[in-house]
Amino acid sequence: MSALPFHLLPDTADLDAAGRLSIGGCDVLDLATEYGTPLFVYDEAHLRSHCRQAVEAFGPGVAYATKAFLCGAMAKLAHEEGMDLDVATGGELHVALAAGVPPDRLVMHGNNKSSAELTMALETGVGRIVVDSFDEMDRIDRLVTGGLPAPTVLIRVNPGVEAHTHEYLQTGVVDSKFGFGLASGAAQEAVERAMHAETMELVGLHAHIGSQVFVAGFFAQAVRALAPFVNAFRLPELSIGGGLGVAYVEGETNPSIREWAEVVKFACNDAGITAKVTAEPGRAVVARAAVTLYRVGTVKTLPGVRTYVAVDGGMSDNPRPVLYGSGYEAFLPRATTADRPKRVRIVGKHCESGDVIVHDAAVPEDLVVGDILATPVTGAYGHTMGSNYNMVVRPPVLFVSGGEAREVVRRETYDDLLRRDLG
Ligand SMILES: Cc1ncc(COP(=O)(O)O)c(C=O)c1O
Repeated sequence: MSALPFHLLPDTADLDAAGRLSIGGCDVLDLATEYGTPLFVYDEAHLRSHCRQAVEAFGPGVAYATKAFLCGAMAKLAHEEGMDLDVATGGELHVALAAGVPPDRLVMHGNNKSSAELTMALETGVGRIVVDSFDEMDRIDRLVTGGLPAPTVLIRVNPGVEAHTHEYLQTGVVDSKFGFGLASGAAQEAVERAMHAETMELVGLHAHIGSQVFVAGFFAQAVRALAPFVNAFRLPELSIGGGLGVAYVEGETNPSIREWAEVVKFACNDAGITAKVTAEPGRAVVARAAVTLYRVGTVKTLPGVRTYVAVDGGMSDNPRPVLYGSGYEAFLPRATTADRPKRVRIVGKHCESGDVIVHDAAVPEDLVVGDILATPVTGAYGHTMGSNYNMVVRPPVLFVSGGEAREVVRRETYDDLLRRDLG
């Protein structure tokens, strides 16, 4: 029966007397009419305030993990608000550089960086490369011996901590493709090799235990697991990675970026770690900043079974439900706080039975074909994980602020679908 929990909406979300939603001073139903659906609407003030929170909490050097959501405008915004940017591929590096982010403010990640990606990183002079494997070290050796400048590096250590999150989102367990294991001795070997190498300057360690981690205590656990190792080498920097969880549905709550930083810093002090501690949040900065707007096209009721509500997007703009079984809320922005007594399955338009947006959504009784339906907390890993499956064109992205909407990514066209097609 419950109404949408208002705290799942972006910071500047507001309602008129009838419960009609505006974000950044823009009426979202008007945005849907003007820009069409599906549509990502990002609250610019929310993005900026969360970047500032991260910088206040961790200090300069804290990086925004661009994999959560990246376009030129977002790269610029994070940089303007004082964050460094974490890029994990040549493509992310290219977009960040094209947005004008200075290379020394970039942190290059990736568990299988190619020689071409490393060449790009070395030639442009990224601030940090986070080294993930011995093969990568070999590649850096070869490139630097061949004349490219030696990078400043962190070693990615796998602390062997099992954070309670989806299996696919765990990255710090022993059985992982990421980083050098602590228990196996690989991390020790990597640090010793990097310390003595003339092809790189080692300044610190990095660990990332996973994503969508709600319990700040898991980060403290990772710090405790790393502490003897960190203290043995006395390197100046330690990045605890990203991964702070975000509430998506009713009943969930998450620690703030500030609270997360306090737990991490306390654990570091407690363990005698003197390194400068930093982090690289993605989801916690952008997830709640956005809502996705869809138009309802079909309502199919199977008596005694369920009702399917089909919208004009789906797994191509939000693959998280398919990938991780992630939950979302849904609501009608024309009556944002209306009771939602009806249970339905919200599905997309793709040719897959698994193309589900919300498995068991609470929606208002009077939902009808033609309604604009919204899902909140879609700012992270939706737009960036989107696809052209079924040759569906990807939605535009709006930044809204002070009553103005700025289209920062335009909608794809059918011609875009043919741009790389050589016939
Ligand atoms: C190395 C690294 N840093 C940061 C992040 C960002 O994580 P999140 O968006 O959960 O904060 C990730 C995501 O998986 C990652 O792999």
